[in-house]
Amino acid sequence: MAIISSKKQPPEPGGEPPKPPRKSRQIPKPPPSQDLLLPQATPEEQDKQEESIRPHRFADYIGQKDLKGVLEIAIQAAKSRGEALDHLLLYGPPGLGKTTMAMILAAEMEVDCKITSAPALERPRDIVGLLVNLKPGDILFVDEIHRLSRMTEEILYPAMEDYRLDITIGKGSSARTRSLPLSKFTLVGATTRVGALTSPLRDRFGLIQRLRFYQVDELTQIVLRTAQLLQTAITQDGAQEVARRSRGTPRIANRLLKRVRDFAEVKKVEEINQSIAADALELFQVDPCGLDWTDRQMLSVIIEHFNGGPVGLETIAAATGEDTQTIEEVYEPYLMQIGYLHRTPRGRVATPTAYKHLGLKMPNEQLSLPLQQ
Ligand code: ADE
Repeated sequence: MAIISSKKQPPEPGGEPPKPPRKSRQIPKPPPSQDLLLPQATPEEQDKQEESIRPHRFADYIGQKDLKGVLEIAIQAAKSRGEALDHLLLYGPPGLGKTTMAMILAAEMEVDCKITSAPALERPRDIVGLLVNLKPGDILFVDEIHRLSRMTEEILYPAMEDYRLDITIGKGSSARTRSLPLSKFTLVGATTRVGALTSPLRDRFGLIQRLRFYQVDELTQIVLRTAQLLQTAITQDGAQEVARRSRGTPRIANRLLKRVRDFAEVKKVEEINQSIAADALELFQVDPCGLDWTDRQMLSVIIEHFNGGPVGLETIAAATGEDTQTIEEVYEPYLMQIGYLHRTPRGRVATPTAYKHLGLKMPNEQLSLPLQQ
């Protein structure tokens, strides 16, 4: 398995001089165990068991304090007026609980929640079918809303603004527009790329809220809660070890917990403590900061081949074999959050903390010393 580090070893006494650094080239990807750290839900994670560990009410939902505060006020106000909630746009990296939040909103408002995603709404009739079946106050959750087709988006404008469906019947000069009233519903849109929404769509959301990466103490509480639901014994420091390696993302924390539980069962360990959690996660090649092969490869390309940067996104994509969008939406947000990477107008730059993590020395460290006159 290729964990990329070019920590230079001193030459053996009398041995060969160190080889010059290799030219940038794409190194084959490691086996798929690394997908453990991808924030997108796997098909199994969309199943029933996952439902049983999802929080169903605000009272069970850990973290995102500011967002919960805003939404609790919006719910109380809407309930006291007997109205539907304002349309809500949730944005932020994947795996932070946008769908969960929409389902909690529905539970708190005591309405139904219909869940779909933009790629499933390709034809106008797909969205029309959903809209006409909504009851007053119901929530329509549209994931990846930045990917809506233009026609679907245009159907949504009057639906969101005036609860009206405008349909055109016929073609050419004989075309007629009919308007159908809709129930007063709430659209909850979710996106990882808020900047990719058209402004007419963005402007129709009354509330635009961001989900942030979770702190280690919040993820620790989530791991403890999930472990209890899965009837798995785990100590506080065991849960913290899992949390530290979970990239600020509950979905990853719960997934890692299940792998650690497998490990503990096979090793016939009754309770997961820090050392068992660390051993299990080492086995699954999850780094102590939750970095995976691609993160390390990205940082190591920037450091070893481009002197720490700045280097362009396309170059990093070519060297890691990842597409630019995944790098921008999945890898970079976490590396920036933990302070390993800066995005600058001239390209990406690795920070001193990234050098330290990979066990590499900063070039020209002496440059940071005051210049002699
Ligand atoms: N499981 C996944 N996300 C959670 C959260 N925010 N709170 C509690 N349990 C969770």
